[in-house]
Amino acid sequence: MAKTIIISNRLPVQLQIDNGSISAIPSVGGLATGMKSVHSEGESLWIGWSGLTEEEIPEDLEDDIDAALAEHGSSKVKLTAEEVDGFYYGFSNRTIWPLFHYFLEYSEFELASWETYKAVNQKFADAILEKADKDDIIWVHDYQLMLVPRMVREKRPETSIGFFLHIPFPSFEIFRTLPWRAEVLSGLLGSDLIGFHTYDYERHFLSSIRRILGLEVSFNDIYLDDRIVKVDSFPMGIDYAKFSEAAKTHQSLPKKEQSELQRRLNKHKESTPDAKFLLSIDRLDYSKGIAKRLNAYEYFLNKYPQYKEKVRLIILAVPSRSNVPQYQLLKKEIDELVGRINGELATVSWTPIWYFYRSMPFENLIDLYTSCDIAWLTPIRDGMNLVAKEYIATRTDKTGVLILSEMAGSANEMNEALLINPNNFEQIADTIHRAIQMPPKEQKSRNDVLQKRLERYNVEKWANDFMRSLTDQRDKDPAYV
Ligand code: UDP
Ligand code: G6P
Repeated sequence: MAKTIIISNRLPVQLQIDNGSISAIPSVGGLATGMKSVHSEGESLWIGWSGLTEEEIPEDLEDDIDAALAEHGSSKVKLTAEEVDGFYYGFSNRTIWPLFHYFLEYSEFELASWETYKAVNQKFADAILEKADKDDIIWVHDYQLMLVPRMVREKRPETSIGFFLHIPFPSFEIFRTLPWRAEVLSGLLGSDLIGFHTYDYERHFLSSIRRILGLEVSFNDIYLDDRIVKVDSFPMGIDYAKFSEAAKTHQSLPKKEQSELQRRLNKHKESTPDAKFLLSIDRLDYSKGIAKRLNAYEYFLNKYPQYKEKVRLIILAVPSRSNVPQYQLLKKEIDELVGRINGELATVSWTPIWYFYRSMPFENLIDLYTSCDIAWLTPIRDGMNLVAKEYIATRTDKTGVLILSEMAGSANEMNEALLINPNNFEQIADTIHRAIQMPPKEQKSRNDVLQKRLERYNVEKWANDFMRSLTDQRDKDPAYV
């Protein structure tokens, strides 16, 4: 039976070796958390990087590593430390990530990392070719692997290949600055179908295709000499049932079975019943606007001093890409900002910001989502932002207010949230005030619409829509009929 091969840099789990014993921890990030649900449902193999470099894997543990990954339906691509450095920390996260999120000043254009990116993409393509049977469908994910579709197509012209980009595709004016822009586009065009989260990203991509490669584009179709490539937008959803069920179970837990975190949250709620919790959860990434959010919070507390001692901001910043200098600098900046704001504003009974720098297990995420009155997410650029959707899905009684940056892909589908421009502190301060004052009836009517939409367009539907579109494309392309 034909299977789907999912291919991404991150696998659903990351392996760690401690004193010769292997453990698997869930990967963080929208791609891994979203695709995990799709993967566990169907007949698929997931190929990716284990999180360990070749140097970190002792020869005698090789089989155990493969077995540990096989338990998660996964298979590894082996990468050396040097490859991880040039491909992952280098071209992927010091060139493409900042460029595609409009941080042009952070983008480095290093020939050596481009060369490593190409070589590593070839390794991923080879891994697919080794594992894929003739009728298998190949689904390549994200900006780390943009050359893979072409590399697979060259060896297996008849294979059905889909590609999905989980981050924004920038406007032509930004994309054109990339020295290897034509090669990247041509790599992607090895696909039969290329998917984006939003229509805007799709539009930007098609504009680059026209202006850089001079290809004919008609509606969503790109005409190559021998094939047609279809481009479309598929906003990624969440595993709605998983989040809403977890929230329901969580709320019915007897007190003694609650987590330590939940007990502490409860204690604070009991001692100051009219106080509000604001929540933000992101990977520690400059695109998420965490530093700006902290400054905006201080601005809000000064503009509306009546809320001092009445609100508390919980920031969960998940460690990410910590070998990249911009991330190290950001960590320092956030540590200092939290320290300064808490130092200046705290009272004996109030700490304005609770700051966690770690990743949390699923149960604790649910504790936070269900306990916080307001979720406040202010990315400066974000391909989608699934946290916004997860927060809404856990609000079983339909209360809670979502304040969301209009620069997040998810804002397109979440008009009932309070949308803000993350650079406009005046608007943000007024919006937090509005969120705190919002009557429960209004909260419920907004969340009711959002929940219905998220439940309908869940991650399973997203994956099915993409797969159906890929199959349809093949059926109608004259190259294959
Ligand atoms: N997440 C997680 N552990 C944490 C915090 C967050 O697994 O400690 C998950 C969260 O539930 C969400 C994902 O990480 O599914 C973040 O996805 P999002 O699209 O918001 O942002 P990304 O990290 O992909 O840029
Ligand atoms: C974003 C990217 C993913 C990536 C995730 C976590 O969601 O689109 O491709 O996996 O961030 O980042 P990391 O670098 O840890 O894989």
